Amino acid sequence: MPWNCFFKCMKRPTQKPAKWADHYTRKAQKEHYPARSVYKLKEIQHRHALIQKGHKVLDLGCAPGSWTLYAAELTGPSGQVVGVDLKPLSIPVPSHVQIITGDILSLDKILLESIGKEYNAVLSDMAPDTTGNRIVDSTRSFHLCQAALSIAQNFLLPGGGFICKIFQGDGFKSFCEDVASVYHNYKIFKPQSSRKASSEIYIIGKGKK
Ligand SMILES: C[S@@+](CC[C@H](N)C(=O)[O-])C[C@H]1O[C@@H](n2cnc3c(N)ncnc32)[C@H](O)[C@@H]1O
Repeated sequence: MPWNCFFKCMKRPTQKPAKWADHYTRKAQKEHYPARSVYKLKEIQHRHALIQKGHKVLDLGCAPGSWTLYAAELTGPSGQVVGVDLKPLSIPVPSHVQIITGDILSLDKILLESIGKEYNAVLSDMAPDTTGNRIVDSTRSFHLCQAALSIAQNFLLPGGGFICKIFQGDGFKSFCEDVASVYHNYKIFKPQSSRKASSEIYIIGKGKK
């Protein structure tokens, strides 16, 4: 099957939207993405165009797979997308996508070797299991972001881009400073598709030094 037919023809497993499903959840169902989070990456991509055809993209916290699928559409088969998550993906992915099941906080040699090197973009939509306690949740999110930034430092090519979700809290300012110190430019962005009540926000590092 030609690769661009893959996205149109494949039937990804779908669930009926719940009664509370909002506009983006219904849109994701209709467009065969496994999660509404895809529209956050779409908004970021429309503004910053960090992912291009032929790029190599590392997607941290990739399950259930919406960002991975969208990134794979953007890179096309001349590129490559590697997704890592604690959980396996339950959707089919195109052949230029590789999924690795593992913990970003405890990368061992085998995991590091399977991830490879020389990425054009590192994405992290990682989120901890939330407790409802904002301080605990934002602290856990901060640790995931620090791990993602460190991975991006090691795996990104100079000039590469970094997109990272963080739950706003005590570590937010210092994380922005860390990103600012290793990228030529950085932006903070709250997508429209991100729920207003959520403390999540995205930091976009452009041009790794
Ligand atoms: C909001 S979901 C990501 C959604 C994804 N971007 C998509 O569009 O389908 C957050 C993911 O981060 C993963 N995650 C959290 N901590 C992680 C860790 N230490 N290592 C790898 N993945 C992690 C979770 O398992 C979860 O699947």
